[in-house]
Amino acid sequence: MTLALRSGRFGALSDAPATFVLDGALVMDPPSGTADVREIAVVGGRIAEPALAPADAPRIQADGLVVAPGFCDLHAHLREPGGEDAETVAGGSRAAAHGGFTTVCAMPNTDPPIDDPASVTWLLARASDASCRVRVVAAATAGRAGVELPDYAALAAAGAVAVSDDGASIPTGRLASRAMVAVAAAGLPLIEHAEDASLAAGTAMRAGPVATRLGLAGWPASAEAVVVERDIALAAETGARVHFTHLSTSGSVEAVRRGKAAGLPITCDVTPHHLALTDAWVAGDRRFSWETGDDDDVARPLEDGLAYDGRCRVNPPLPSREDALALLGALADGTVDAIATDHAPHPPQRKAVPFEEASPGMIGLETALSVGLAAVDAGRLSLRRLIEALSISPARVIGEERSLVAGRPADLVVFDPASRWTVDPRRLAGGSHNTPLLGRELPGLVRLTVAAGRVTWDDGLLA
Ligand code: DOR
Repeated sequence: MTLALRSGRFGALSDAPATFVLDGALVMDPPSGTADVREIAVVGGRIAEPALAPADAPRIQADGLVVAPGFCDLHAHLREPGGEDAETVAGGSRAAAHGGFTTVCAMPNTDPPIDDPASVTWLLARASDASCRVRVVAAATAGRAGVELPDYAALAAAGAVAVSDDGASIPTGRLASRAMVAVAAAGLPLIEHAEDASLAAGTAMRAGPVATRLGLAGWPASAEAVVVERDIALAAETGARVHFTHLSTSGSVEAVRRGKAAGLPITCDVTPHHLALTDAWVAGDRRFSWETGDDDDVARPLEDGLAYDGRCRVNPPLPSREDALALLGALADGTVDAIATDHAPHPPQRKAVPFEEASPGMIGLETALSVGLAAVDAGRLSLRRLIEALSISPARVIGEERSLVAGRPADLVVFDPASRWTVDPRRLAGGSHNTPLLGRELPGLVRLTVAAGRVTWDDGLLA
């Protein structure tokens, strides 16, 4: 397959294994603790000692570039089946490769939901020729209806790597407890979207001064906290592995911090938009969380044409500046294990509507690295921690490993941390462009992505 995007080219998992040598790049391999400027070779799809590369292998001078383990997204919406007007497995996987992701976990809130072994098998077959590995997260309750549990062992046998009712929590403690006993027996993690539906009902954005000023009903932090606290208590009782996705409040990460300190098998992720964007974006502000002071927000006039932008509606809603900075701190100190995109494509007609009516969600696969690098440039995160949180740590949640040591299948991303690009629909590979980052200049260009030994994105580096 040879689909092109501007200067680059996409490949697929069915392509021939790659062979090349890169020289002069900073090779960062968090599992081995190494970060050296050195040669790295890929021969027949595996990492190899550079001296063993064939004499005719393409050699690329890669000064200034960074080589890291391939990124793994624990949370993306590929929208098949039923939502092909927003995204497809093929398009979403190209967006992933373009953003440096080699593995994407597809969420099951599709139409119909992925809740039985046959639909898991169907989705895996659909993705066999994709531009990244697609892992399937199956529904935690039948039909995502929050009443009955599917057969988790059968879902695992069909290839599901986790279960989740993403878009909603498991509604009651009793059902969550039963689900945890069952996931523990099946050896799967439960990925929980923590949100008490009764507290969140009717809300459109984060509760606080900005919501009040905008006249929008506010989502209270307690909506997330009560489910996180409930599930931590249930994880302690059942021994289940629980992964909290897209956490968005300081209270939730504090609860996870305490649970981890008590030795519970819990993990969590945050999205790039909950780290960098704030509820002030709904009022039209376009500064990242670390670019603002405590004085602003409430007194600032609404930005004409930018306030009430449906592209800023996400679930959970964009956090206050204090919460965003707390999430960044928790990512930096390792309380937050991973960055997950919650890549949520929606067509324009579901976004260009009054704010409260907009479908929640924004795309993120192609901007995650860049937003993370902006936080690195601002001194909020180390490059090593960013790479870990995009690659090793999320892969571990679904029982996978990443490493750049010789002998391993090549699974890597090569990016230029210094180059800047402007987010523009013509530079996005996915099926939808719903992000308020359009028009924003960001650091970080992905030059090459190699998934399972195959080149899935090449921005002219090898060609
Ligand atoms: O913003 C979101 N969009 N949050 C979710 O939990 C679901 C997702 C979607 O499917 O669009």
